[in-house]
Amino acid sequence: MTAFDKNSVRNTLSVSFTVCLFCAFLTALAAVLLKSRQDTNTAYDRNITVLKAAGLLPERPDKANVAEIFKNIRPVMINLSDGKQISAKWDDAQKFDPESAGRSEDNGYALSADADVAGIKRMTKLASVFEVFGTEPDNTLKKIILPFYGAGLWGIMRGYLAFEPDAETISQIVFYDHKETPGLGGEVDNPKWQSLWKGRKAYRGDEIALRVIKSAGKETVSPYEVDGISGATITSRSVSEMIRFWLGTNGYFNYLRRMQHTAAGKD
Ligand SMILES: Cc1cc2nc3c(=O)[nH]c(=O)nc-3n(C[C@H](O)[C@H](O)[C@H](O)COP(=O)(O)O)c2cc1C
Repeated sequence: MTAFDKNSVRNTLSVSFTVCLFCAFLTALAAVLLKSRQDTNTAYDRNITVLKAAGLLPERPDKANVAEIFKNIRPVMINLSDGKQISAKWDDAQKFDPESAGRSEDNGYALSADADVAGIKRMTKLASVFEVFGTEPDNTLKKIILPFYGAGLWGIMRGYLAFEPDAETISQIVFYDHKETPGLGGEVDNPKWQSLWKGRKAYRGDEIALRVIKSAGKETVSPYEVDGISGATITSRSVSEMIRFWLGTNGYFNYLRRMQHTAAGKD
């Protein structure tokens, strides 16, 4: 039997190749085995953000109390072109991903440069929103939570905008994913800045009136304006544009109109 020649190029390459192959196999195996746990954790994180947007996040959230509160939250699939609800399984509505729907030929469409103020290129035709109800026996609508996303300075920012049941007054804004600089654009996560959104109005008649302004420290008095983040004009403008996009007719305009009519008892 010939001895294994450690110095031969051929043997070195074949050992390296085998090690690489083995490592690739282990990585792929781990990815497959952990996929369902990863999906569960992603869904849990998303639920936590929805509760934050609804103002219902418990002090010590855990799987049990989050699931309990979620019994009063209904994910609703809507058609954005007319704002009408479409039937969908709870799970499908809950897991609906507007970004991948937007990328698909069937469920998305390309935005013109003029329309694309949120910097997202393609838009979904459908959306999944969350309607939050009171606990029994008070099962009236308490909040409407709308997912949104758009380009910030450093990458896509994703969050939820929560409305009071009048579908007109903002109750909360929250971001769960962004790449803005901590201390600058990252201040979108600061509860103090987020509190400026509470009570602001989205529309003046049919006009989208809500905007983030650069007020240079002046007290904001208009119910349609939110003071921008100082030192983060670009992020502030991006958030303003993406919110205005999602409040528009490509976004939730028709759905919110329907909800306003329902709240006013007109339907
Ligand atoms: C390293 C670095 C990171 C920055 N990050 C942000 C950011 O996340 N958001 C933002 O709007 N501006 C950011 N800026 C600042 C912008 O370049 C720009 O100066 C700022 O938006 C102007 O805001 P102001 O008019 O309120 O001063 C950053 C600048 C530097 C040098």
